[in-house]
Amino acid sequence: MSDTLIEVQSSGPNSDGYQEFDLGGFHFRRDEYFAHITWPTGGHVMSVDTFLRALQRDIAWDFFYGTVNFDHVFGTVNHYGTVDMFAGRFNDAYRKAELDHSENYETPLIRETFKAMLDDWTNEGFDPFASPAETDKPFGVKNGSNTDAVTRRRVTASRMVGVPGDEKIRTDATHTINRMFADVSQDAPEVHAEPGFEDEVAAFNLFAYLSRSDVTWNPSVVSVCKNSLYCPTTEEYILPVVHGNDRVEWFVQLSDEIVWDVQDRDSGSARAKVTMKAGDVAAMPSDIRHQGYSPKRSMLLVWENASPEIPEMIRTGKASVYAVDF
Ligand code: PHB
Ligand code: FE
Repeated sequence: MSDTLIEVQSSGPNSDGYQEFDLGGFHFRRDEYFAHITWPTGGHVMSVDTFLRALQRDIAWDFFYGTVNFDHVFGTVNHYGTVDMFAGRFNDAYRKAELDHSENYETPLIRETFKAMLDDWTNEGFDPFASPAETDKPFGVKNGSNTDAVTRRRVTASRMVGVPGDEKIRTDATHTINRMFADVSQDAPEVHAEPGFEDEVAAFNLFAYLSRSDVTWNPSVVSVCKNSLYCPTTEEYILPVVHGNDRVEWFVQLSDEIVWDVQDRDSGSARAKVTMKAGDVAAMPSDIRHQGYSPKRSMLLVWENASPEIPEMIRTGKASVYAVDF
């Protein structure tokens, strides 16, 4: 209901055919190649390709856990009810020059503004969730739209994929097997539940399920146990955001390989380069930002603790920034 009352500030098509948007002191304009962002004390330019891929994920994940950096200058911080939009806040040079700028909005206002901008700025044939090898380019003057792609429903199981009434298992009828996962076995486990437990016992082949994913860098919830969420995803090319954590995240590399650039969350200075091969497990600390590079389509399990109390527990020292202290 409340979303229908939100007034998105946009102005009619510019000379390239795109709407321009205002949110607080920030102004957004796109041309054939770039997103131009200005705020009261500065401005920034990004490739519209990177910008739309990041914008798509920020919306689909409802601003995610902690910080979503679109690049080294622009991004959002989720306060779970309100969202900060910032420029230069996590960039040492901007901070030292006192050029950083940050504004806070009620989540529905920034959500609706971002959704309107993504829909208007995405041309026919461009899918911000697809790997660059599997979509047209985003560039050029305004040319149609791709509303079905940019509003696709995110998989969020309430118990587990395959449980009666929950997210469905994928089949040939609903999802094709990705070109890079043609060798993934499509076997399915047999389930023999005791009478009366048919709704409680379920199993599915996660590799087969992921081989049929048509999106990249988009963790979806496939199982839930209280605050413990299994969020596997298929990766190819570069994670289009640099995620700044507000909690520890576990990664289990299920296939192939991803290289992670790990930096200090606040300053961006280098912390580590982590190469994860199939079978490797890593726990990313809660005071870092990270961006992954996947040379081939790979399967990654992101394991999240969704407890709303964690950011405060870390701030007050009740929880460590590390998953394990050696
Ligand atoms: C992350 O920031 O931890 C993340 C985001 C998207 C992915 C994988 C990992 O696809
Ligand atoms: Fe992350």
